Amino acid sequence: MSKSPHRKNSTVVHSLDRVVFTVPDLQEAVGYYSAFGLDVRHSAHQVDLHTHGHSQCWASILPGGSKKVLQYLVFAAFEEDMAEIQKRVEALPYSHGTPHPLGSAEGVWVVHPEGLFVQIIAAAKCSPKEKSPTPLIYKTPVGKGNAPTRSSIHQVKPSRLSHALLFSNKVPESVDFFTQVLGLRVTDRSDDFIVFMHGIHGSDHHMLAFVKSEGPGLHHLSWDVAQLEEVGLGMAQMLEAGYTKGWGVGRHVLGSNYFFYSRDPWGSYSEFSFDIDFVPADHDWAAGNYPQHDSFYLWGPAVPEEFVINYEATSAKL
Ligand SMILES: [Fe+2]
Repeated sequence: MSKSPHRKNSTVVHSLDRVVFTVPDLQEAVGYYSAFGLDVRHSAHQVDLHTHGHSQCWASILPGGSKKVLQYLVFAAFEEDMAEIQKRVEALPYSHGTPHPLGSAEGVWVVHPEGLFVQIIAAAKCSPKEKSPTPLIYKTPVGKGNAPTRSSIHQVKPSRLSHALLFSNKVPESVDFFTQVLGLRVTDRSDDFIVFMHGIHGSDHHMLAFVKSEGPGLHHLSWDVAQLEEVGLGMAQMLEAGYTKGWGVGRHVLGSNYFFYSRDPWGSYSEFSFDIDFVPADHDWAAGNYPQHDSFYLWGPAVPEEFVINYEATSAKL
């Protein structure tokens, strides 16, 4: 196995390690994420989201409240960089040192200006080391149809978490926070409406992004699939499982990925994503600033009105 890239003299995080949120009913989470093709491991008190064949726990879901609430984010750094990170956090003007009530005491804790807790731990790099391989184009011999039959299709199973998009009422402050504390860099943006950030030890175009809203919240988690066909098959899989709302199939401009967003039981989304851009560890991406109409999507159906509602920060009804 190839070694994880580690940019020299850069004591910053390399991965979004885990997203932790609460929902009113864990069984709803088990049903939804199992249908989405994740490896859902659950007890009476917690649901952990893995991808099949991968040891990483990408998200943990705990019971509580009357709606879904993002609780905290965990980022991972190389062990040898943790002392520097701790020193940096202690020198910055953010509240730090107190774990989230639902979290462990491990690593370094710091609180974002909107109250979101962030934990930084020493752990293996789970963000990609390189661009996901382009799939081989399968071609049947002349005289046979190229499409598979419906009966030969298996469940789409994403391979890994790609990124999280957060709502924020303080987008510029969020960018400052994640730049100063974690060392993320802006990849591309549309002013302060939406900002995409990547890690500098090799990362998808964004491991974290923010979109302007009334307050904090989790808009979506994005999961990488192996080919465009799996984006379409993933859509069909969710529709057939009874999760009939969503957006796509389409293609983004910033990040370039093909997408289908499935709406979850709490009004946020899970994205099947294919072919997102990659920023290698030895590359300084020249951040772009795009007008809104050039920043969102290249093609796809009209965006549903509810797609941008932040159910965590508003009293909007599902
Ligand atoms: Fe996304």
